[in-house]
Amino acid sequence: MVRTKKVRTPLIAGNWKMHNAREQTRQLIGELKPLIDGLSDVEVCVCPPFTVLAVASETIGDAEISLGAQNVFWEEKGAWTSQISADMLLDVGCRYAILGHSETRGRFGKVDDLLAGRLHYFGERDDTINIKARVCLAKGLTPIICCGETIDERQAGKTDDIISSQIRACLDGLTPDQIETLVIAYEPVWAIGTGEVCGSDEANRVCRLIRQTVRDNFGTDAGNGVRILYGGSMNDKNAEELLEQSEIDGGLIGGAALKADSFATICKAASFAAWNFYI
Ligand code: PGA
Repeated sequence: MVRTKKVRTPLIAGNWKMHNAREQTRQLIGELKPLIDGLSDVEVCVCPPFTVLAVASETIGDAEISLGAQNVFWEEKGAWTSQISADMLLDVGCRYAILGHSETRGRFGKVDDLLAGRLHYFGERDDTINIKARVCLAKGLTPIICCGETIDERQAGKTDDIISSQIRACLDGLTPDQIETLVIAYEPVWAIGTGEVCGSDEANRVCRLIRQTVRDNFGTDAGNGVRILYGGSMNDKNAEELLEQSEIDGGLIGGAALKADSFATICKAASFAAWNFYI
């Protein structure tokens, strides 16, 4: 049996969304720490709500867990009621910031969705995600840039066009060196929080398309270096199959990140999948 390590270290990031106050944060991270202690070849990250980032940071202590935020604003400071800057996130110990999650894109900010009375909460767009990505990289925060198609777009056969145009627009103007360091998460909107996971072959195919789009527009090194995660109903049961795909470099985990044992199982699957085995 021969083992070779894959080129990119997998990242498992827990997107807690609007869950957990201080006590639950201490408990969840406290339970997680011993479960992933000593785990190699995987980077583990938690992205709690803003209000508990400081508590999360203290609870993590010197454990091998990175901290991420669920959003950031591009201005440094000033009269921007409700907003949080990159400097503030760095100050509290963040290394990552999730950008452009479909829940903040308001299902891609489509006017017709608004008229149809569907979700349209925050209206984040590719161009605002792009500005945020530039600021994060300039400040030393690593963006986790989300992309993904809705069920209507998938059924209309538009998945590939939607994904590649989101990637080009979100990365516009970034240098290949910057792109090599960042993270992209492919999150089909129809698979988020629904229990309906994207098949591993299809998830791998779309992640390959993302990598090729990066190569074609920003160069081979950028495409080879960028880490591409899958997100959408990944859990302790289906993680292994998804994470062993060649183009999937980890996961952005929602519901299954809220329990220490299921999240740790996913981290272990990623650690195992960081290696290729040959007979
Ligand atoms: P889910 O969420 O794992 O609960 O589907 C993933 C995400 O929205 O990042």
